[in-house]
Amino acid sequence: YGDLNAKIDYVFKVVLIGDSAVGKSQLLARFTKNEFSVDSKATIGVEFQTKSMLIDQKMVKAQIWDTAGQERYRAVTSAYYRGAVGAMLVYDMTKRQSFDHMTRWLEELRGHADKNIVIMLIGNKCDLASLRAVPVEDAQEFAERENLCFMETSALEATNVESAFLTALTEIY
Ligand code: GTP
Ligand code: MG
Repeated sequence: YGDLNAKIDYVFKVVLIGDSAVGKSQLLARFTKNEFSVDSKATIGVEFQTKSMLIDQKMVKAQIWDTAGQERYRAVTSAYYRGAVGAMLVYDMTKRQSFDHMTRWLEELRGHADKNIVIMLIGNKCDLASLRAVPVEDAQEFAERENLCFMETSALEATNVESAFLTALTEIY
């Protein structure tokens, strides 16, 4: 284990934010453990997982923080954002409200995080295409206006999950 740790060149802290039930914890489980749970429980407080990967010949350890979308379960905000170099702003593409709330989450993020933080807008649950409530164009427009990267994902079907995190980590790097 000492050897493995010795090979790590960078540790990047990335935070997940967005309304409750948009799929933050399942995106994290898919990315770090290739797992998915249909009866995922609401997160209470803060959890984190790590995953190491090679980016441009360097071993990068992503330390991904996950917190509750529900206000009453959230931990101290400033501590959550401290040291974060990346953020995944997640909405559920079948729930318009979760997308409309992106402006609020972005405000909180910009109020607490480093101003050079890399932000990725994620429209999750793209497996539920027939229930789409957020047109791709709306999300693209918002992302362009706010200078964010944008991707639609499915934690359930493992669509774009690896790609979304990799894009963010490469951008940070
Ligand atoms: P909080 O912890 O309360 O903030 O919620 P969360 O954003 O972490 O949501 P969570 O990952 O717990 O997922 C909420 C529900 O959505 C669960 O029932 C998941 O199984 C489901 N879910 C998550 N991702 C997907 C997805 O990509 N597709 C579908 N169909 N369901 C998903
Ligand atoms: Mg959660």
